[in-house]
Amino acid sequence: MFRALLVDRDGDEVTCDLADLTDDDLPSVGDDDDDPEVLVDVEYSTVNYKDALAVTNSSPIVRSWPMVPGIDLAGTVAASDDPDVQVGQRVVVNGWGIGEDTWGGFAERARVRGSWTVPLPDGLSTAEAMAIGTAGYTAILCVLALEDHDITPEKGPVLVTGAVGGLGSVAVALLSSRGYEVHASTGRPEEAEYLESLGATTIVERGELSGAGGRPLARARWAGAVDGVGSHTLANVLAQIQPEGCVAACGLAQGADLTASVMPFILRGVTLRGVHSVYVPQARRLESWARLDEDLDRDLLSSMSSTIDLADVPAIAAEVLAGRIRGRTVVDLAT
Ligand SMILES: NC(=O)c1ccc[n+]([C@@H]2O[C@H](COP(=O)([O-])OP(=O)(O)OC[C@H]3O[C@@H](n4cnc5c(N)ncnc54)[C@H](OP(=O)(O)O)[C@@H]3O)[C@@H](O)[C@H]2O)c1
Repeated sequence: MFRALLVDRDGDEVTCDLADLTDDDLPSVGDDDDDPEVLVDVEYSTVNYKDALAVTNSSPIVRSWPMVPGIDLAGTVAASDDPDVQVGQRVVVNGWGIGEDTWGGFAERARVRGSWTVPLPDGLSTAEAMAIGTAGYTAILCVLALEDHDITPEKGPVLVTGAVGGLGSVAVALLSSRGYEVHASTGRPEEAEYLESLGATTIVERGELSGAGGRPLARARWAGAVDGVGSHTLANVLAQIQPEGCVAACGLAQGADLTASVMPFILRGVTLRGVHSVYVPQARRLESWARLDEDLDRDLLSSMSSTIDLADVPAIAAEVLAGRIRGRTVVDLAT
């Protein structure tokens, strides 16, 4: 028997409860001889923004019922039909629809495809991998996107929006570790000291960027930006990017809308680069986890994360949606 968090629905009513399951309860992830399944003893998972939406049923994240949510997991391979994935290997799995289409990380066991597993770098523990989680992994994808566009530290300051959140916290730490001058935008100015401890040099009040109807072009303040907020914030950030700059856009904490001007694109050659995390090719995943291992200061990672029990996930999910969580939340399934 193992513990799991199960969301289910009965008509309009959606429930979210702890359940005791067996391996036989774990649904198959489909017949594909070219991509066999593996069983993972899950040691840690994490609560991302998307998990909070799934657990509270605030947005149609779950597409198959019942569902074990959790878009992230890290643990040890317990059984494998995949010759490329060895029993005993430490792996991280994020994306590929786990916690959305197929059962995810809020359980002590998970059945996934072998091709979804990424071997953990030796330097990262399974707990650290989930302190990073999809939020932190998306942060490094954003940093790589800026590097692809030649946004180097010499080009000027870079901005991180939603900076106190999970993605924002990791992005601030990663950029500052590479020598960027990092400006951090937040609606929680009382967290300035926290952001400075991660490496931010300037705090930008959320209200400076979040209003509707901003100017199409304004003073060019930043060479690049990592934006997890979207909506008016993204439009206002674009208007303040230097010529040839780039914004890596990956989130919608303010909203999914984007009413912006083409002026930054046609007068400053600004690039708006979309970043997704769910179906990223394996080579980019391996590169990303290697960079996280190399760049992320473990003391900073520890300072931005807290650990909870599986039973606490629903309560924390509500806090995430209320914008009251700082940094990252790890779910301990090992003890
Ligand atoms: N594209 C992808 O594959 C991908 C992957 C991971 C995450 N994401 C998205 O990235 C975003 C951040 O994820 P996360 O896990 O870091 O979430 P999170 O920990 O909940 O952080 C979100 C942060 O956004 C800011 N925020 C919240 N409401 C806001 C509002 N109305 N206006 C402006 N700022 C607001 C807050 O930062 P402050 O308190 O500092 O203001 C909050 O801490 C989410 O939208 C998530 O869906 C996308």
